[in-house]
Amino acid sequence: MRISHLSSEVSPFAKTGGLGDVAAALPKALAASGHEVDVWMPFHLDAARWFRKRAAWPDTLLSPFRVSILGAEHEVGLLRATLPGTTVAVTFVAHDPLFHRPTIYSPNERGQDDDLWRFCLFVRAAVEAMKRLGRRPQILHTHDWHPALAPMLGAWSSYRDPWFDDVASVLTIHNVGYQGVYGLDQFGVLGLPPETLTGGVVEHAGALNMLKGALVAADMITTVSPTYAWEITTPEGGAGLDGVLRMRAGRLTGILNGIDTHEWDPTHDRYLPAHYSRENLRGKRECRAELCRVAGFEPGDPSMIVGAVGRLVPQKGFDVLFEAAPELIRRGVRIVVLGSGEPALEGSMRLLEAHAPRGFRAFLGYDDRLSHLIQAGADAFVMPSRYEPCGLTQMYAMRYGTVPVVRKTGGLSDSVIGFTGQNAEWATGFHFEDPSPHALAAELLRAQNVFFHRDLWHRLVANGMRADFSWGRSAAAYELVYRRAREVRGLP
Ligand code: ADP
Ligand code: GLC
Repeated sequence: MRISHLSSEVSPFAKTGGLGDVAAALPKALAASGHEVDVWMPFHLDAARWFRKRAAWPDTLLSPFRVSILGAEHEVGLLRATLPGTTVAVTFVAHDPLFHRPTIYSPNERGQDDDLWRFCLFVRAAVEAMKRLGRRPQILHTHDWHPALAPMLGAWSSYRDPWFDDVASVLTIHNVGYQGVYGLDQFGVLGLPPETLTGGVVEHAGALNMLKGALVAADMITTVSPTYAWEITTPEGGAGLDGVLRMRAGRLTGILNGIDTHEWDPTHDRYLPAHYSRENLRGKRECRAELCRVAGFEPGDPSMIVGAVGRLVPQKGFDVLFEAAPELIRRGVRIVVLGSGEPALEGSMRLLEAHAPRGFRAFLGYDDRLSHLIQAGADAFVMPSRYEPCGLTQMYAMRYGTVPVVRKTGGLSDSVIGFTGQNAEWATGFHFEDPSPHALAAELLRAQNVFFHRDLWHRLVANGMRADFSWGRSAAAYELVYRRAREVRGLP
């Protein structure tokens, strides 16, 4: 099949989280199964920097052309490269005034959020470029709210551009918490006929809601784990869109993400000081010693070292970890956190570090090397997420022989098998239910107890390292979704 993915971020060119990872790894896996796949993304400043750092530049694909939004003409360029190490084409939509910004989701120079405008321009330019290139995908696969205009452009036969007659659309929700909500006065930016607003298609709770529009328009909807697919149809998990999701439940399915097993492989990870495998864990001890050195802990410290890496946002529950931290440190647990995000949480990290420099180490910022070192060098990996659509870092942890201690929610329930005391043959980690400092501390202390029973701990380590989180199985599940998307649209 010919499949085009549209995403606001794609690793390694520009990424803030798991969306970027998946928007690269899934296309790679689909290409490996024989599909004709390409990926489209804006040419963010981060992407330009990525190429400059390597003294390279993507090829020019087409001469610049104009895209009009509300009468304003934007000249866009098209650049092409491939996903590193593959032949999967990545087409960048270049328009410096909107995409050359310090971060992927930056406001404009007046501090206003103009993402609606930016990502609608991205979609319009991508579709126009596909037409000019004579490349019509059979599946247009969009990720999250940013390219939501794409399924909407092809949805309603009464007004759609006939180019879309042969294009089925699939929307993957990576996080229902981000919906692209704007004032109704911005509707014109979409360039859609008025009936899509008045018919309640892109309108939700008195505002313009891009994710809602895509949910109504897409031929099939997926999300990134089976449990999350159910959670988002409930009032607790749907972030206001649960009603729409219940209505579309027949088109909704949950497919657990895989991980990039090449990028995340302790046997040859380029960021690690030593390598190791399930059969020979000696290198993990060296990585642990290096992590202790970097974190300022005693190198031979026998305490359990708990790592955490992620965006410092309420979703991830770091505040719960920070509240539990003083007690955990008193009980001999060492904690090392890498993250960036909300200043208040960054402040809590600094405070904890100042109080307990030998027990808590905070690294602020985004750092691939350090995230790999934490995954390899820590004994346990904690994720106190309030909700977690899938989560990738717990899967990296298991592959690196680091035992995850996670809240039982979304993809964390689906990927980690909690140790019950009776299932050492197959358990891969620890679960706790309540998003409270008390429940988190209790489970981490339970893990610490097992940590000191070396044989038992090593069984959990080995079980996790044996688990298969590669994309193969999930890619096959997406193929079924693509076939169904064509079917529901009456296409061969
Ligand atoms: P989310 O997409 O919600 O942020 P995931 O677990 O799916 O959560 O993916 C997060 C990705 O971003 C992982 O690849 C993780 O290693 C990476 N990441 C997050 N924060 C950082 C950071 N501060 N430094 C390096 N990598 C990070
Ligand atoms: C989102 C979710 C995360 C998921 C990632 C990739 O950012 O928060 O749980 O793993 O997307 O699908």
